[in-house]
Amino acid sequence: MSKALKLTVLVSGRGSNLMAVLEKIDAGKLNAVVTCVISNRSAAGGLISARERGIPTFHLSPSHYPNEPDYEKALLATLEAAGTELIVLAGYLKILPQTVVRTYKNRILNIHPALLPSFGGKGMFGHHVHEAVLAFGCKVSGATVHLVDEKYDTGPPVLQECVPVHEDDTPDSLAARVLALEHRLLPEAIGLFAENRIRIENRRVIIKT
Ligand code: GRF
Repeated sequence: MSKALKLTVLVSGRGSNLMAVLEKIDAGKLNAVVTCVISNRSAAGGLISARERGIPTFHLSPSHYPNEPDYEKALLATLEAAGTELIVLAGYLKILPQTVVRTYKNRILNIHPALLPSFGGKGMFGHHVHEAVLAFGCKVSGATVHLVDEKYDTGPPVLQECVPVHEDDTPDSLAARVLALEHRLLPEAIGLFAENRIRIENRRVIIKT
């Protein structure tokens, strides 16, 4: 078996997607290792759970750095020190600095709880997404794992799948259905990178079979 892919996971909230990734690794179904977890929020559940598991954690927030370049340097140094091969944004609500996006081009994944390019962009996170999907009257929603570029939710999709929207759905019931899908899709997308099965042609992510 090839060497485990080194992941740095960035979280802003409870971290259930991070836990789904760790479960797959623990079960021997994903050849990866989470070498570092970073959060912009010291109280993020994902950061605390990672620390409890003995994973090195870092609380790094742009608001700690009056000068943006200092923040970029600190983030890059942390990513580098962890030997990061793939960055995973798992419920991370900040935009990554340009230098980080450029340094890790095509090696940054984000999970979004809708079918991009619909219901994405700044402010479209968590319950806002599901409320908007229901308000539009959509019959399906879903989840997208995509490569990260310099804007919110605009990078090319790696994996996308649908879930039905039911007539009696609330934002919470829809969020739960989508979250179960996210927990399957994110580890699966990471697995494609771990198995070196991704090729990128312009905006298309080609998955080698
Ligand atoms: C997920 O719905 C994810 O798609 C979105 O934020 C939520 C994070 O959930 N970006 P968790 O922190 O992984 O539990």
